[in-house]
Amino acid sequence: MLIRTEITYIMNKVFFYITIIIAILSSISYNGYSQSNAKDKSDMDRKWWKEAVVYQIYPRSFKDNDGDGIGDLKGIISKLDYIKSLGVDVIWLNPIYSSPNDDNGYDVSDYRNIMKDFGTMEDFDALLKGLHERGIKLVMDLVVNHSSDEHEWFKQSRSSRTNPYREYYHWWNAEQGKPPYRYSLFDVNHDAWRYDSLTNAYYLHYFSRKQPDLNWENPKLRQEVYDIMKFWADKGIDGFRLDAFQYAAKDTTFPGFPKGFEKNFNQYYGMQGNLHGYLQQMNKEVLSKYDVMSVAEGAGNTLDDAHNLVDPERHELNMAYAFDGVGIATPEGYSLLHFKQVFSRWDSAFADKGWLSIFLANHDQARLVSRFGNDSPQFRAVSSKMLTTFIMTMRGTPFYYNGDELGMTNAGFSKIEDYRDVQTLNEYKHQKSIGADMQKYMQRIAFESRDNGRTPFQWNSTENAGFTTGTPWIQVNKNYKTINAAEEEKDPNSILNYFRKIVKLRKDNLVLVYGKYTLLDKQNPDTYSYTRELDGKKLLILLNFRSKAEATHTGINLSTANVLMGNYDHPSKNGTLKPYEAVIYELK
Ligand code: GLC
Repeated sequence: MLIRTEITYIMNKVFFYITIIIAILSSISYNGYSQSNAKDKSDMDRKWWKEAVVYQIYPRSFKDNDGDGIGDLKGIISKLDYIKSLGVDVIWLNPIYSSPNDDNGYDVSDYRNIMKDFGTMEDFDALLKGLHERGIKLVMDLVVNHSSDEHEWFKQSRSSRTNPYREYYHWWNAEQGKPPYRYSLFDVNHDAWRYDSLTNAYYLHYFSRKQPDLNWENPKLRQEVYDIMKFWADKGIDGFRLDAFQYAAKDTTFPGFPKGFEKNFNQYYGMQGNLHGYLQQMNKEVLSKYDVMSVAEGAGNTLDDAHNLVDPERHELNMAYAFDGVGIATPEGYSLLHFKQVFSRWDSAFADKGWLSIFLANHDQARLVSRFGNDSPQFRAVSSKMLTTFIMTMRGTPFYYNGDELGMTNAGFSKIEDYRDVQTLNEYKHQKSIGADMQKYMQRIAFESRDNGRTPFQWNSTENAGFTTGTPWIQVNKNYKTINAAEEEKDPNSILNYFRKIVKLRKDNLVLVYGKYTLLDKQNPDTYSYTRELDGKKLLILLNFRSKAEATHTGINLSTANVLMGNYDHPSKNGTLKPYEAVIYELK
């Protein structure tokens, strides 16, 4: 009896301890599991601008309503249902403010008015209303690193050395001698100081002569900009894209820079002085008071720079827009290994904190498919879809440029008279002045001039692609009879319909927005494979960047995988991808 009681006692004790151990173990693993899940969930920190797909509209080239050959706001309004049909959530509109158009609106002469070519403030209000009625938000370009030289501030500023607006810009009095060299991106001589005899002084312009840099070190100027931002935010817009803002802060003593600094000018121009302080002030005064998204063009020189811009605890901006990826493509091609490294590095830097945008094209680049894919008739559609799959399956907010959803290609103009872009034209003069090989230059711009991405949107096969009834400000791409929206509407397998489908897929699968990204088959020079995981859901994305079949080596058995989407009728199930194939699988 006693023995039995003792045995029972011991058994109970053992049972008790086993229970405790199991409880502890399971609590550890439960916590571990729930922590990682909770971590996933809390890390998601859901925000509308993280879940959005941004569609960029270049107003000058989107749709002309009044027949003057220039796209306008009424034109965009006439296409609102098309925009809605894409499934995108946010429109980023390139500048529409009053401007003499030296740089297609990036030279603003009145920040509170609409450029005449584009319409009126009533048109703007109607556009905003039309977008909001369709559940689409509007992000505006804010161009405040510089203004136009025709802005009233600059007119005043240059009028005399004692004018109250003098300090709105950067001036260097000529008695001090020539100012230390500063590189200009757009100037014919690449000299960012322009002499003005009126006051015997030089003014600074990092971009064209007609784009003098604003003096952010002047608190009055900063207040002016915040007031402008409030003006638009009060109208109900949903965000700002800060043009060239990484260059806004400057050391106004203008120290000499080492010879040849211009080869890496970003290091000397980007994120200088009190830039973060100004952003924090802008956040406090404007951004924090509205439900608006904010994104700066450029992200400095290091991952730390980019991080500091968007670390939520610092209260600056929402997301970084870094150039490392978009700059990879060259006329000679690009290394996919490098491409994978860059995107993986940026992803891991923002895995825990901060947020990125994902893009491969915009109005400053030639066309997506011509630069990163293959625009030959055989592969244009399939490689466009593959690149779109990449953009829509990475972590970060996708920014997608108008016309890429049709697979529009480079115009590749062969005559300089066909170009319109101030950068391309001034660089042409510069190259000529230094006796460069002009044939080579023409080849280069046919591949990379910004005008390649700015030809009119190809709506249909009627004259001028249905863009205008007048003479377009820049020629329509000759291929508009075959590549246009009307044709693609009819074809369920078109690039356009693929785009709509994948936007929906992203919206239906939070894992594509917030899920952890893991690169697989790292050393494969031809294919890009990665998984996205969130709360037990795991997707695998396989992309072939080559024009022939390529094998992937992910170690994942695809036989039970469920294909969510692919750019071929019969998606690969054995890991060998057809030319430019893209497949998204759900793993069991
Ligand atoms: C930005 C714009 C570009 C413009 C430049 C000067 O880079 O994206 O189009 O030319 O700033 O404003």
